[in-house]
Amino acid sequence: MQIKCGVDIIEIARIQESIETTNGKFLERVYTKSEMEYCESKNKAKYQHYAARFAAKEAFFKAISENFNNYEITWKDIEVTNDVKGRPEVHLLNKEIPQIESIDLSLSHCKEYAIANVAILINN
Ligand SMILES: CC(C)(COP(=O)(O)OP(=O)(O)OC[C@H]1O[C@@H](n2cnc3c(N)ncnc32)[C@H](O)[C@@H]1OP(=O)(O)O)[C@@H](O)C(=O)NCCC(=O)NCCS
Repeated sequence: MQIKCGVDIIEIARIQESIETTNGKFLERVYTKSEMEYCESKNKAKYQHYAARFAAKEAFFKAISENFNNYEITWKDIEVTNDVKGRPEVHLLNKEIPQIESIDLSLSHCKEYAIANVAILINN
């Protein structure tokens, strides 16, 4: 067993600009339907939540990059959800990596930045 971590920090303005200037293309390429529903429900604060999910996907890539860079995982293969208490979870969709035992995610965001930390427990 080993634990691999990935962390990412992002400027929220960068994500806001990508969303506002690409006529839905950036959203469609990066986010799943349920992620968009969650972020859109936050109204004016939505860009913080979009940015946090972008950071989570980047952090996930960092965490798996050493062991599983041959899986060709795309943005929408990684989905962030929240449990009933609001705690975030990250799930790998569409692709099976049997060696992954569990994944944990923590998010934080303020007016300017969002940050995500992913830890993956690998059975090898
Ligand atoms: C849940 C809580 C920690 C969020 O903290 P915050 O500073 O308001 O928010 P941040 O910007 O740092 O983080 C927001 C993210 O926290 C995550 N979060 C929300 N509820 C969570 C929970 N119960 N557990 C873990 N993470 C949680 C979410 O991912 C959220 O982002 P998202 O909505 O985009 O998914 C806070 O509201 C809370 O309940 N604090 C309790 C503190 C407390 O009891 N302290 C005393 C003992 S330590």
